[in-house]
Amino acid sequence: MATAVYPGSFDPITYGHLDIIRRAAEVFDKVIVGVLKNQTKTPLFNFEERVDMIREVVKDYPNVEVVSFHGLLIEFTKQVHADVIVRGIRAVSDFEYELMMAQTNKQLHPDVETMFFATSAKYSFLSSSTVRELAMFDGDITPFVPDYVRQKVYEKIDEHRQTEISGDPASGCQEGSGAD
Ligand code: COA
Repeated sequence: MATAVYPGSFDPITYGHLDIIRRAAEVFDKVIVGVLKNQTKTPLFNFEERVDMIREVVKDYPNVEVVSFHGLLIEFTKQVHADVIVRGIRAVSDFEYELMMAQTNKQLHPDVETMFFATSAKYSFLSSSTVRELAMFDGDITPFVPDYVRQKVYEKIDEHRQTEISGDPASGCQEGSGAD
């Protein structure tokens, strides 16, 4: 039984990510969406919120699970007994970094393969930061994220605006302290 991990920070998940998840779920017996907890970027959503949004939008895929992780991707992949890491390639510019990551991971655990899916052309320009920035400036993100996610993004941005108005520094986005 082939199990794949599809990792990322998903801040937030977009139709581009969903396209890869859907296609990977057709190829592999099981797909585990690995949500990175300890990312270097400061996220808009904490990992619990990111996991919640992904679970909601993949609920109709019976062979997709959503799990958060911290530390090295390759160690997480071994822990969940996956054989493959799936990555999407949007453009040639993604390739150099992806190749370096795949080769490093191969060096650490030669029995885990990295497989690349070519992102569908209509999502090749899309990134989570584009979605965040559009929403921040009241742009329409409907074409890029599912309704559930769109609502959460606008709510979160409103929350941030309220925080800025009230000047409460303690209510910024914090990573939760719960278990994975
Ligand atoms: N559709 C839409 N957007 C996509 C996409 C797709 N198919 N593929 C990538 N993107 C976007 C992401 O949303 C992200 O956008 P953002 O930078 O605006 O937030 C951007 O492209 C980069 O994506 P990605 O390369 O997947 O970065 P990431 O931060 O989401 O995930 C990890 C990177 C988690 C895979 C990587 O950092 C990791 O494995 N970390 C753990 C530590 C480790 O093992 N390091 C590697 C050692 S070799």
